[in-house]
Amino acid sequence: MSKKRVLVLGDLPGEGLTRLREKCDVTVEVEGVASQEELSNRVPGYNGLLTLLTQKVGERVFAAAGELQIIANCAVGVDNIDLEAAARHGVVVTNTPDVLTDDTADLTWALILAIMRGVVSGDGVMRRGEYHGWQPKLHLGRSLTGRTLGVIGAGRIGQAVLARAPSFGVSTLYYQRRRLAVDLEQELRTEWRSLADLLAVSDVVSLHASLQDGTRHLLDDQSLRSMKAGSFVVNTARGPLIDEQALVRVLQDGHLAGAGLDVYEDEPRVVPELLTLENVVLLPHIGSATWETRIRMADCCFDDLITMLAEKRTPKRAIAGAR
Ligand code: DGY
Repeated sequence: MSKKRVLVLGDLPGEGLTRLREKCDVTVEVEGVASQEELSNRVPGYNGLLTLLTQKVGERVFAAAGELQIIANCAVGVDNIDLEAAARHGVVVTNTPDVLTDDTADLTWALILAIMRGVVSGDGVMRRGEYHGWQPKLHLGRSLTGRTLGVIGAGRIGQAVLARAPSFGVSTLYYQRRRLAVDLEQELRTEWRSLADLLAVSDVVSLHASLQDGTRHLLDDQSLRSMKAGSFVVNTARGPLIDEQALVRVLQDGHLAGAGLDVYEDEPRVVPELLTLENVVLLPHIGSATWETRIRMADCCFDDLITMLAEKRTPKRAIAGAR
């Protein structure tokens, strides 16, 4: 029997591709993000697609891809894929939950510490030869111990961020529409608050919600201004959760003390004003970027493609289109 055909859109670490090649007829393209038109022209004849989070897949692509059975998206977020269109066309979509939870939570704390303690700007002082000896008022940051962290979105990553807080002496609040079970709240030593209350009292607000129509610009001008004066915001989830122009304004006028961003509204573009602000730490979307995790993410995708196309079973990670 002939092998099913898979189009892999990206250069992934690890050895998993060899496994996939044994079971399927694989084409790898690493040229970068394709437009909807380009992708619609590429997909006919393929049964499986492996996408990166930068690759949008909409109705036009699904309509053109008559034989497509599965998209394995190499990310936990699936906002790049039109899941309703996938379901309409009976295409299974899988993602990579769990394997990136700890690394993303760790990077969130790295950003919190970086913005509160001036870690990146301090490194700059050294590299420019501006350190002329210890001084009582040199490069002062803000204490983390005793602060309140407000987590927006308490899914896997949000919970892992909350779980790390006690070791820093930080108390936590969280907001999401559906409250966690009481015993889980107790285990995480956290309390639910309305979004308005959380923003008003938190010293640091960290975003871990998924990007959906209802969460786009969750932090807009009004909500950013309703944050506690002198507080910090961190985003390792998705850029469009924050109105970036509004964020620039609250950072420029000093209402917020700083921001740590790993994601941006229009990646890879960054609003130029952010690059000029001293109280901001900017990272290139590296929440899950360790060798260990990226290999695990790639393996999730290869496994799901093999399960669906060679073993003819719906993968457990199917989040859309499963019949
Ligand atoms: C994801 O998986 O959605 C992350 O953003 C990748 O780093």
